[in-house]
Amino acid sequence: MQQERSGKRGPRVWMASAAGLVFFVALLAGPGCSQAFGQGLAGRWMAMGRTLDNGEQEKSILELKQNGNELTGTLKTLGFQVDVKGTASGSHFELFVAEWDPKRPVLVGDLMDGELHAMQGRRAWVAKPAGPTDDIPAVSYIEPPPLNNVPSNGLAKTPPMGWNSWNLFQGRIDDQTVRTMADAMVSSGMRDAGYIYVNIDDTWEGVRDAQGNLGTNHKFPDMKALSDYVHSKGLKLGIYSGPGPRTCAGYPASYGHEAQDAKTFAAWGIDYLKYDWCSAGRVYKNDALQPVYQKMGAALEATGRPIVYSLCEYGLGGVEKWGPAVGGNLWRTTGDIRDSWESMIGNLEKQVPTGPYAGPGRWNDPDMLEIGNGHMTDDEYRTHMSLWALVASPLLAGNDVRSMTDATKAILLNKEVIAIDQDPLGKQASPVKNGDLETWIKPLADGSVAVGVVNLGSAAAQATVKAGDLGLGGAVKKARDLWSHQDVKFTGGAYAATVPSHGVLLLKVSAK
Ligand code: GLA
Repeated sequence: MQQERSGKRGPRVWMASAAGLVFFVALLAGPGCSQAFGQGLAGRWMAMGRTLDNGEQEKSILELKQNGNELTGTLKTLGFQVDVKGTASGSHFELFVAEWDPKRPVLVGDLMDGELHAMQGRRAWVAKPAGPTDDIPAVSYIEPPPLNNVPSNGLAKTPPMGWNSWNLFQGRIDDQTVRTMADAMVSSGMRDAGYIYVNIDDTWEGVRDAQGNLGTNHKFPDMKALSDYVHSKGLKLGIYSGPGPRTCAGYPASYGHEAQDAKTFAAWGIDYLKYDWCSAGRVYKNDALQPVYQKMGAALEATGRPIVYSLCEYGLGGVEKWGPAVGGNLWRTTGDIRDSWESMIGNLEKQVPTGPYAGPGRWNDPDMLEIGNGHMTDDEYRTHMSLWALVASPLLAGNDVRSMTDATKAILLNKEVIAIDQDPLGKQASPVKNGDLETWIKPLADGSVAVGVVNLGSAAAQATVKAGDLGLGGAVKKARDLWSHQDVKFTGGAYAATVPSHGVLLLKVSAK
């Protein structure tokens, strides 16, 4: 297993080892790092993981300090480095990564016979004491370039729409799945509704050859042929990499090979790049985010191929302010979404402060859609779709488009809701809270507004939309419920309806 849906909300994968790279131990090799093992949980531990799809082996280093029942430390894999905190009770321990999920442990286990035997989500994780030279391969530092605006690529005038492999398939994505998904994007009507990009996320990568060219692994035997196939369906193909030495899943990323990889992607016919920070955090501090993202933005521009540039940095570094300057079209504002109400709503709420920065060609991204993945109710998925449309979010379906239920189809293919998302004015709605009800108002290009009232409570509630709150500049002439597909009437300047728990009332209202 290469990822832990349950374990984290940021980079959520543990992977591989980088055979042949130079090891750099300065971070961890200070005095006190290696001590007598068998005396407690404190110390440096190394866990070897599974063999990746490119033949390399995953590895992680856990450095722990113990103070009474309290544990603190660092967890490093090829893909990322994070601080951990947790508790010890005798030989038992639980460790959490606060920025991923303060409630779900990332590792739970016991010290047994001088080894840590733990579960990382559903995967067994066994660590032995690390020797002084055991570490994650390091790389030599490359100075980020001076800041220099990358010209806009003119793409993504409305939020990008498509499909991405990660939410459902994670490491199990391959050429055949992408092809059948592309077929289904057409046969289901997704393409014609605007879902154009078919995006391969992490775990497609092979290894670099002697010239540094990055190849694919056995799951993607011929990326150019795959892109030709996807293009023949009237769709576009997206791919994934990152500015660090490794992707979140531990595969080779573009550090030091930005221009070369951009050329490779262009030669394959790639139309969209998701560029994920992950292990760049082992090399750079957050103040390097902008120049580091600029490097790939400039490299993409230099290829001359129109490639949508999606920055994936979990909202770090005020990205909404400088995303356009690095050639970015969209950027993540949050950690990873999960298929749960709390995660979905949580991501949306975190995105609120970025609202003023959204607009044509520059979109805030609260992460991909979970609609149809099975762990929320249809009411919750309708709310998910409505909110993503109200905040002008990219609409990247994350479900199995080949086997959608009628309910999932009705949500993802609701053209009236898609039109709100794709409105050319590109405004991001912000919420007004009243008890359990949250009202989101989005001004639209034709002078009308979309208004969504979400019921965050556990019981049905009456929502009242007042015309005077909508900034319409006139009396309501037309109002339409975008989920019942019916016109509704404002009486006495207001419209009231019952909204189920976690459901939404979504209207388009105009004064013309
Ligand atoms: C990070 C990203 C996810 C996904 C994985 C792939 O967690 O935020 O969207 O791309 O990496 O490893």
